Amino acid sequence: MSDDGTTAEQFWDDRYSESERIWSGDPNTVLVRETADLPPGTALDLGAGEGADAVWLARRGWRVTAVDISRVALERGARHAADAGVADRVDWQHHDLAVSFPKGEFDLVSAHFLHSPREMPREEILRAAAAAVAPGGTLLIVGHAGPPPWEQQDHDHADGHGHHHDMHLPTPDEVLESLRLPQDKWEVLHSGEHERVQTAPDGSTITRTDNALKLRRLR
Ligand SMILES: C[S@@+](CC[C@H](N)C(=O)[O-])C[C@H]1O[C@@H](n2cnc3c(N)ncnc32)[C@H](O)[C@@H]1O
Repeated sequence: MSDDGTTAEQFWDDRYSESERIWSGDPNTVLVRETADLPPGTALDLGAGEGADAVWLARRGWRVTAVDISRVALERGARHAADAGVADRVDWQHHDLAVSFPKGEFDLVSAHFLHSPREMPREEILRAAAAAVAPGGTLLIVGHAGPPPWEQQDHDHADGHGHHHDMHLPTPDEVLESLRLPQDKWEVLHSGEHERVQTAPDGSTITRTDNALKLRRLR
């Protein structure tokens, strides 16, 4: 519960209810790039939002568990999956990841922009994410490297991903350290920043810096 009396779930439901669709509907480019050569298996998408990544994976043959705190987002994702003909390949699960985590092990665990202006134990959630990777599987964590330009000018304004300026956005090295992984059991496949072109709320095109960490759990 925050100062204004709303829960994180209400915050995200309200955010998703603001419009028919708040994200682009396209899968994240890093997901596409970093998973294109993986054989389809089981995937877990944490903070799946409106489901573009989950549906893209399902269309490529993955069996996906898509998790979000917002039932509004999950219902939207399920409709998207039905429209794409992959409803039977995605299991939409409602979890506040601060409280509960899906059961099982997965060949791919993906967390794209799992940021929230509400209190969220991101490091703990990402440690649970690592623990859910099956031997030989992949962990992909993508986040923003900094606030968007329009938020730098207006501290009170939340960005298109619902962020506030003072939210800590860790580097890939910080994320890796916080995972506390045994080095002999994991291989770092990619760690770094990249630029991404995005449409700002005013319709202009801007370039943002994000970061990505890709790890493989050794067998
Ligand atoms: C910035 S959005 C990213 C959505 C999507 N992954 C993408 O890349 O477009 C963050 C997502 O995390 C979800 N989320 C925030 N806090 C959460 C929590 N405690 N448990 C589960 N999901 C959460 C939000 O509902 C939202 O869909």
